[in-house]
Amino acid sequence: MTVSGVCVSPAAKSRVLVVGATGFIGRFVVEASLASGRPTYILVRLSSNPGSPCKTAKIAEALRDKGAIILYGSINDRELMEKILKEHEIDIVISAVGGEKVLDQLTLVEAIKAVGTVKRFLPSEFGHDIDRAEPVEPGIFMYKEKRKVIPPLDQFQIYGDGSVKAYFVAGTDIGKFTMRTVDDIRTLNKSVHFRPPCNFYNMNELASLWEKKIGRTLPRVVVTENDLLTAAAENRIPQSVVASFTHDIFIKGCQVNFSIDGPDDIEVTDLYPDEQFRTLDDCFNDFVIKMKAKSMDIAD
Ligand SMILES: NC(=O)c1ccc[n+]([C@@H]2O[C@H](COP(=O)([O-])OP(=O)(O)OC[C@H]3O[C@@H](n4cnc5c(N)ncnc54)[C@H](OP(=O)(O)O)[C@@H]3O)[C@@H](O)[C@H]2O)c1
Repeated sequence: MTVSGVCVSPAAKSRVLVVGATGFIGRFVVEASLASGRPTYILVRLSSNPGSPCKTAKIAEALRDKGAIILYGSINDRELMEKILKEHEIDIVISAVGGEKVLDQLTLVEAIKAVGTVKRFLPSEFGHDIDRAEPVEPGIFMYKEKRKVIPPLDQFQIYGDGSVKAYFVAGTDIGKFTMRTVDDIRTLNKSVHFRPPCNFYNMNELASLWEKKIGRTLPRVVVTENDLLTAAAENRIPQSVVASFTHDIFIKGCQVNFSIDGPDDIEVTDLYPDEQFRTLDDCFNDFVIKMKAKSMDIAD
């Protein structure tokens, strides 16, 4: 099999270990790995999530039902990680551990080095280029404690004048394209940027797109740069972190204020020009269908 000129046939069956598999991003990566036909192992912590002990187990079981092989343990346990990597002859390790656990990966890296047979390690990024984005405090300090921002549905928050653009990528595409890169030598030791032109929007455009879907306009509340900086300075977690990242993305334009022409950068749509990204338009369509189904359930 040839992918964009890169011969990957011997590696097509690389054995993949996903850590952080039960998290938001990890699930998409596991599903994409399974869909790619690779033997896919997932590392699951036994007694994590004290607030919701069943949640992790349920997600792990759902992934197992799709074909993933569950291994129990934590990336903090170097001895165990070495054993897992050796016993299961893991070729590729993909980490999607949560932000606050970024440093736990150092032990995993030690285990990978000690075993010496892992061909690729993808650290937990899946976000902005952290060497280039510079959110204000506390975001810069807690950069890796990234959180999902859930926009309110009954109004839009427009940051600044709403004209700064950003890229939006569906979780399934993060999984899909991550798995495309793992055997692709063109990506080795490079930052792979996701800049799909079809999903490049500013807040005003995003709001209009959503309004078109729902067939009505919604109030637009302007959140100024000062509002965001004030919220960031309050140092409430996670609100202040969200505010600092929002400021960085939608005021400072951290996703687009640098070029990726350098030798260490590569853009994913340049790599796979024939592969489609799921458009925001499609995602909104699905969301509308789900909303309608939910409101019918409530009516019943
Ligand atoms: N979520 C987003 O919208 C988003 C957006 C952009 C970028 N990102 C980035 O994507 C990456 C993953 O974020 P996420 O939101 O998907 O994280 P998440 O939902 O918090 O999931 C974290 C995963 O890591 C696992 N984990 C944590 N410590 C571990 C350890 N010591 N050993 C084994 N597993 C461990 C957790 O297991 P348990 O289930 O046992 O806790 C969970 O499966 C991060 O780098 C984040 O910054 C996320």
